[in-house]
Amino acid sequence: MIKLAPSILAADFARLKEEIEVVEKVGCDYIHIDVMDGHFVPNLTLGPPVLQSISKYATKPLDVHLMMTEPEKYIELFAKAGADILTVHIETCPHLHRTIQQIRNANVKAAVALNPATPLHTLECIIEELDMVLIMSVNPGFGGQKFIPSSLVKIQQLRQEIERRGLKTMIQVDGGIDLGNVESVIQAGANVIVAGSAIYNHDPVTSVQQFKQIFKNEARK
Ligand code: DX5
Ligand code: ZN
Repeated sequence: MIKLAPSILAADFARLKEEIEVVEKVGCDYIHIDVMDGHFVPNLTLGPPVLQSISKYATKPLDVHLMMTEPEKYIELFAKAGADILTVHIETCPHLHRTIQQIRNANVKAAVALNPATPLHTLECIIEELDMVLIMSVNPGFGGQKFIPSSLVKIQQLRQEIERRGLKTMIQVDGGIDLGNVESVIQAGANVIVAGSAIYNHDPVTSVQQFKQIFKNEARK
C-alpha cells in the first residue's frame, strides 16, 4: 500500500498541534519532519526539543529528514526525542555504514536520502542495510519548489534494483509532489509520498483525502 507523509514544513508552526492532528485524523501514514541546519541547506527549521514536544501527542510514526552536516552527532538525541525513522543524506555522511548502524542501534528505522544530482550507484554497498531510500525530487532546503522530472527515471531504476535484489526497501519521494504529478511518481515505483505545500497550502482534510483516493486507484491498477 502507498503511504502518505505530510511535511509539516508547510504547516503553520504556531498551530503545529492542530496542523498535525488534522492530517492524522484524516488518515495520513507518517508525519514528515524536516530538520535543516543552515550549512548543508540554506535554511533553518527545528531540532530535538520541538520533535520531543510533537512526539508527546502525535499518533503516527515520526519520519525525520535530517538535512544537516555531521548528523551522526545527533542521532541519539533525535532517537530519544521520538524519531521513528531517521533519514540522513548520503552527501553528508563519509562513514555512512557506521551512521546507519548507529541509527539501528538507537532502535530507529534507517533511511538514506539522495539529492537530485547524486547518482543511484552510490547506494550499491549500503542498500541492503536500509529500511527506506529517499529520492529528493527538488534540491533540499525549501518547500514549494517545482518537481524535477528526471527524478522519475531515478525512481524507476531504484525500483528495478530493489526488485532485482528481492528487497523490501521503501522508496520515498520528497519535493514538489502534488495531486497532478503524484500518479507518475507512484507509477515510477515510489511507495511513500511526501507532500508539504500540496497539503498545507490547501484544505489539509480534502487534500489528504484526494491523495489517498489516488493511491487507492493506483493500487487497483
Ligand atoms: C524540502 C523538504 C521537503 C519539503 C517538501 O527540502 O525536504 O520535505 O517540505 O515540500 P513541498 O511538498 O512543498 O515540495
Ligand atoms: Zn523532507
